Amino acid sequence: MDNNREQWSSKASFILAAAGSAVGLGNIWKFPYIAGENGGAAFLFIYLICIVLVGLPILNIEILLGRATQKNPIGAFKTLTDKPFWKYVGALGVFASFTILSFYSIVGGWSVAYTFEALKGTFSSFDNPQMAADFFNLKNSNAMWVVGWHTVFFLMIVGIILSGVRAGLEKASKFLMPVLFVILMILVVQGLMLPGADKGTSFLFSPDWSKINPQTFLLALGHAFFTLSLGMGAMMTYGSYLSEKDDVVNASYLVAFLDTIIAILAGVAIFTVVFSSGYDPAAGPGLVFHVLPPLLAQLAGGYIFALLFFLLLTIAAVTSGISILEVSVAYLVDELKYSRKKATLTMGLLVYLAAIPCALSFNLWSDVTLLNTGLTFFDAADYLASNILLPLGGFFLAIFAGYVWGVDEVVRNLLIGDSNSVYFGNSIFKSPSFNKLFSFLVRYLSPILIFLVFLYVLGWI
Ligand code: PHE
Repeated sequence: MDNNREQWSSKASFILAAAGSAVGLGNIWKFPYIAGENGGAAFLFIYLICIVLVGLPILNIEILLGRATQKNPIGAFKTLTDKPFWKYVGALGVFASFTILSFYSIVGGWSVAYTFEALKGTFSSFDNPQMAADFFNLKNSNAMWVVGWHTVFFLMIVGIILSGVRAGLEKASKFLMPVLFVILMILVVQGLMLPGADKGTSFLFSPDWSKINPQTFLLALGHAFFTLSLGMGAMMTYGSYLSEKDDVVNASYLVAFLDTIIAILAGVAIFTVVFSSGYDPAAGPGLVFHVLPPLLAQLAGGYIFALLFFLLLTIAAVTSGISILEVSVAYLVDELKYSRKKATLTMGLLVYLAAIPCALSFNLWSDVTLLNTGLTFFDAADYLASNILLPLGGFFLAIFAGYVWGVDEVVRNLLIGDSNSVYFGNSIFKSPSFNKLFSFLVRYLSPILIFLVFLYVLGWI
């Protein structure tokens, strides 16, 4: 084992960092608009099922693979099997990290830009979402503006990664995650106090089952992977900085719980504002950038709420962005023996450049669509990552754990490490019936569900 490899300073640090990775734009930007377009509570319900039945087992496996091998995804598979195929599965993760970051960092850039606009008080002059949408489109029609803010966002994450695991990733998450939570709570409370807030909460909590169709499952499963940072090795890489004595099971529950609760709270904060002003929740990806700024700014104390909201979005994007880039940085450090600095600057530059086509999707290349999909680079990167690469990575992880490494070996490894809680810790794996359930989920249910989703994506069912 590499003695120079850094580790988290405590289990709590890992949990905060992993929660920082999970809680991201997926929770605050994506979840509300996907739920908004797909029936609110009905979508939430399916999404929760996907998290529990597919997300949680795979989260355990990913963190465990990292902890057991102390390696990046490619190195982890190489350590556990001689079959070259699995190396390529690891490589698929590195490719997915490029794809995700290329659109993520554009939205991250918007978030930073909007924090500054909120600071300048720009939103107080917007009377309605149309004005905000025009502002958004005008800004985005300028390629330099989009590329410029993408650059700012990128410099932030590269700066954190350069400082290393403890001084960079850990310190950033330890400081930023509590701030994120406090800001979110302030926004939730103010949302709930608005007249008509109950329309927003009932949209999120009383299901309209007629809205459910196969598409809902596809979106919910893809989003479960995206929001838990699964299927591309981010959790594996973070897990590789754990020591053998840290337990994986408790950490997975906590991370999944925090991630889910934060998505729901973000939904409450956003839908209460949207419904109390009588606007449409199904506004799509523009929901938080078009609809929210004018609505927030018009509230009493709106200047501060708008500022807090975009700060929240920025923090969420930064703590996830670092975990995405860390995958490929860890690969260069472990496998090609690069120094952290050289690895960060090399990968940073490559991913930075890969994101430029996504930045141009809103201006110079807005007419350029990929193959015959009709999708711009930005839309294609988002679609490819959430609906194909991450579920595919998850599928292979389940197959690897269920059939190659073997469930018994997974459970034996899961049992290593402390566990303080009888209910939620590793000890649950001492129960044979729980092991049977786990084995069923990993060997059958997850791969089959993901496979069905693929058949659907390909139009075969
Ligand atoms: N989980 C992050 C979010 O919800 C996105 C992410 C995906 C991060 C994959 C790392 C890996 O925004």
